[in-house]
Amino acid sequence: MTATAKDHWHPVLDSQVLKDKPVGVKVWNSEIVLFRTAGGKVSALEDRCPHRSMRLSKGWVENDKIVCPYHLWKYDGEGKGQSPCNPQMKPRVQRYDVTERYGAVWVKPAESNAQMPEMEVEGYHYVGLDTGIMYAPFELVVDNFIEIEHSPTNHGVFAFDAQGITQVVPKVETVGDSIHVIYEGDQRNIPWYSPTQYFMPQNTRLIIDFMAHFRPVHFIYNMKWMDPKTQELKPHRIREFAFLTPVSEEETHIHLFFFSTLNLFSPQSFSPLRKLVSSRFLKMAHDEFNLDKNIVEEVARTDKRTDLKGLQLGKFDRVLRETRRLISSAYHQGPLEQQAPPEPVQLKATGTTGAQD
Ligand code: FES
Ligand SMILES: [Fe+2]
Repeated sequence: MTATAKDHWHPVLDSQVLKDKPVGVKVWNSEIVLFRTAGGKVSALEDRCPHRSMRLSKGWVENDKIVCPYHLWKYDGEGKGQSPCNPQMKPRVQRYDVTERYGAVWVKPAESNAQMPEMEVEGYHYVGLDTGIMYAPFELVVDNFIEIEHSPTNHGVFAFDAQGITQVVPKVETVGDSIHVIYEGDQRNIPWYSPTQYFMPQNTRLIIDFMAHFRPVHFIYNMKWMDPKTQELKPHRIREFAFLTPVSEEETHIHLFFFSTLNLFSPQSFSPLRKLVSSRFLKMAHDEFNLDKNIVEEVARTDKRTDLKGLQLGKFDRVLRETRRLISSAYHQGPLEQQAPPEPVQLKATGTTGAQD
């Protein structure tokens, strides 16, 4: 990553995918190789051998070093290299800061002092991570994550049906460099035989209250349900952290971290049941994701422009102009030296950065 747009921690891979073989990932056109030593430590280096440009992710790990498969030069996790035939040489590869949190591998440029996002929120239990790819420009993916008018077609579970959506009045407010959005409407009906009923209280008002942050781009969705008669909130809530990682002009990676207040998901609960229900929940979330993916990729195939010119925008789309402005300020600026210092990312529910319960 050059020190421009990518001055943030981005999740780049499900931790479980990184075993003993190196894996190549990309953040906004910067290619990075991740590798894990036998002891489990993860390192991140530029995915290019400085000798003759072989891709290091095609190599292997030996004695805690990544070995280039072309001429067997080796690099440690700091990027310091050795050449077997040129022992006097000291080749070097650029390294990245890397960490594993919430089931994902995250990277940032070593020179950046961005804060690692925090997701632990009191009263919520981690359910799991779902990952996906959309072959579409970053802005088009962000648009999909911020507006809800598409919920009747793309969300069989987490939202409103075709009738319900017509009654939803979007509340949108810019708060510093973030956007606070609230959608409220009738929770769509879920068939009685679907296990999903367990997660979505029926005959309720669904409130989706979320913050869209832009350094890095991530959304913190709070989903809660209200009894329409008493206006009382149900105890069950879901919190979803959706991180969108720009990979290239035409590809965006998505990491969705789910949390729930249900005790069933607490680490103390009976583990086989917790695993079963978590995987069922993640499957449901992934099915929803795929519906969005299909539509967004279809749009991208039709028109990849991201400038909104010539589009006839409705009330749910007003927020799109604001997202363009904030993406531009966080991702499309010049070299780091010309930017204001990055703000620490604080995702805790308290304070102004997380949407309030
Ligand atoms: S290109 Fe990597 S060792 Fe030669
Ligand atoms: Fe969606």
